[in-house]
This record gives sequence, C-alpha cells and structure tokens, in this order.
Amino acid sequence: MNEKYLQPMLREGSLRDKTVVVTGGGSGLGKSMAEMLLRLGARVAICSRNEEKLKKAVADLHELTGNPDIMYAVCDVRDYDGVEQALEQIREHFGSFNALINNAAGNFVSPTERLSAHAFDVIIDIVLRGTKNVTLASGKYWIKEQIRPVSVVNIVTTYAFTGSGYVVPSAASKAGVLAMTRSLAVEWAKYGMRFNAVAPGPFPTKGAWDRLLPGDLRQKFDPAKRVPLGRVGAHAELANLVSYLLSEYAAYINGEVITIDGGEWLKGAGQFNAFDQVSGHQWDMLEQMIRKAKKK
Ligand code: HXC
Ligand code: NAP
Repeated sequence: MNEKYLQPMLREGSLRDKTVVVTGGGSGLGKSMAEMLLRLGARVAICSRNEEKLKKAVADLHELTGNPDIMYAVCDVRDYDGVEQALEQIREHFGSFNALINNAAGNFVSPTERLSAHAFDVIIDIVLRGTKNVTLASGKYWIKEQIRPVSVVNIVTTYAFTGSGYVVPSAASKAGVLAMTRSLAVEWAKYGMRFNAVAPGPFPTKGAWDRLLPGDLRQKFDPAKRVPLGRVGAHAELANLVSYLLSEYAAYINGEVITIDGGEWLKGAGQFNAFDQVSGHQWDMLEQMIRKAKKK
C-alpha cells in the first residue's frame, strides 16, 4: 500500500463547515475517522461510555492533528435520555452540529445457541437501538432548528446484506441499521439530510480483533487471506471514504451503501472463486478433460 494514499484525500479545510458527532470515537475506527475529520478542518465530538478513554483520545487527537476543536461527551447509546444530554453538551460547546457518524457497536463471536436472551439483546441494544437513539434525537433537533445541509454516515458491515453465522445478533442489527439508512435517506431528504452507509471488511482494531478473533482463531482464520487483494484495510482508507461521504462533494449521494473490503464478501459469494487454488499445471489437464467432453 502506497503511503501517499493514507494522506487526506480532500483538500485542506474541506470540512470546515462540518461539526461532526462520532459515536464510539474514542477507539479503533471511530478514533481514526475523528483524526481525519480534524485534519480536514471539522469540529468533532466523540462520545462513548468510558470517560478515561475519551479524555485520552481527545488529548491524542489534538496532539496528532493540531486542531483544538475536539471534545468528548460521555454517553451510553442504549439510553435515549443520556444521548439527548450528550447532544445538548455538544450543542453548548460548538453552538450546533450538522453531521453524525453512527460507529459505536458491540459484538463477539459465539454459536447462537450458547447466547443467553440478554446477551443477544445487548448487541441489538448497542447497535440497532443505539443507532436509532442517536439518529432520532439528532434528527428531531435538525428538523426543529432547520439545520441544513446535514449528513449522516452509518458504519455497518458486509454481513448486513449477506448475513453471517456466529455473529447473528450483530448481523441482524446491522441489517436493521442499513434499512434505517435507506428509509431515512428518502423520508428526511426533504429536511436537507443525507443518509449513507459504509460496509467495511477487515480493518484491524483491538476492539474487534479481541472479540472476533480471540486466541488461535487469528492464525487459523487470517482475515487477509480471505481478501482477494491479499491484505486488510488501512484505517485512513476508510476515514477518507467517510470524510468524502460527509462532505458536500458527495451532496448527490444519498441512500447508498459503499463496501470497502478489498473484494472479501464477493470472494465468499462466487461459487467458483475457490478455484484460485488450482495450479497452472492442473488447469492444463482440466482444460484437456473439458475439451474432450465436447467430443463425447
Ligand atoms: C457468550 C457473552 C460473551 C461471550 C458477554 N456475554 N460475552 N455470552 N459469549 N463471549 C454475555 C454476558 O454473559 C451477558 O449475558 C451479556 O452478554 C452482556 O454482557 P456484559 O458484559 O454485561 O455487557 P456490557 O458490559 O454491556 O458489554 C457489552 C459487550 C462488550 C458487547 C459484551 O464486549 C462491549 O462492551 N463491547 C463494545 C466494543 C465492541 O464490542 N467492539 C467490537 C465491535 S466489532 P448474561 O445473560 O450473562 O447477563 C464489530 C465488527 C463487525 O462490530 C464486523 C467485522 C468484520
Ligand atoms: P471498537 O474500537 O471496539 O469500537 C467500538 C466503539 O463503540 C468503542 O469506542 C466503544 O467505546 C463504543 N461503544 C460500545 N458500546 C457503546 C455504548 N453502549 N454506548 C456508546 N458507545 C459504545 O471497534 P471498531 O473495530 O473500531 O468498530 C467500529 C465500527 O466499525 C463498529 O460499528 C463496527 O461494527 C464496524 N466495523 C468494524 C470492522 C473491523 O474490521 N474493525 C469491520 C466492519 C465493521 P466505549 O467502550 O468507551 O463505550
């Protein structure tokens, strides 16, 4: 991967008109997206449950980008009143906000029959209910105050459309978030809002890797090997895409889901894709056999 393409893709100052709330912005992909937004001149509020983590992320992000317009608000996205309070703090600090990245999530791998009803609910509550809470509270504010243009990006996954075993609560929730994205893209366009989603493939983060690839699963199911391009994603690649979707350069993109996975999900879907394990020599023999079939 050429380092040049890990730099901001948009021109300096492209997001000076954006005040962005990033849920789960204290770690992983949320923090990387916050960094890119700050580099492009946005004001950014990160929110999640762990105040110590958020405080440290604010200090890191300020130091990394030199942009002082970064704040945090503590909230559990499962709690609607708590979400409203956090958004109020953000409005008090920045005056307003006009963009949102629904990125907070909870997930872990498990055979579904081993899950308690509560364990299943916890994932739905963070991912689907949480996204609904932040979206609804923000949307009511934007409509009431006639804030426009507004841009929302929801972080889903490729199994939002394929489904996946062993992460069933997450798959069901992300599918719900995708349906919400497409529904509101149409319903709330009249208020000057755009809704899009991004479906990342494997991007290494501690949060995801510890819960999805614990122990020796990491070697056994090396995610890079599942990707036709032969590597995992770089955080800046995702952050550049999301920055573009949030920006007014994407003002005509609404209701879209953009996959950024190096071709991973399609490799799993195409029935003959596993044939890339067939050697050239084997193909010579197979070709002869296939040609003979015509003569029979
Ligand atoms: C079975 C489990 C379990 C496990 C927890 N539980 N871990 N059950 N197997 N490995 C059960 C608990 O016993 C409990 O049920 C219920 O789940 C809730 O657990 P708590 O620990 O009380 O919940 P909470 O403190 O709210 O924590 C939520 C969490 C945790 C999701 C369990 O991991 C978390 O905070 N995660 C946030 C960050 C995260 O998950 N990041 C990864 C996102 S990656 P009982 O019945 O005992 O009460 C991602 C990638 C997608 O989304 C695509 C990748 C390609
Ligand atoms: P991560 O670092 O664990 O990020 C999840 C964030 O969500 C954390 O910062 C966490 O902060 C926050 N969060 C969790 N529960 C919350 C709650 N109830 N209220 C508020 N905040 C909460 O993992 P990540 O890999 O960066 O994941 C980020 C997003 O990318 C998720 O939507 C995930 O589904 C998606 N994604 C990731 C991958 C990947 O390969 N990494 C692939 C596809 C999709 P606190 O603990 O402080 O609350």
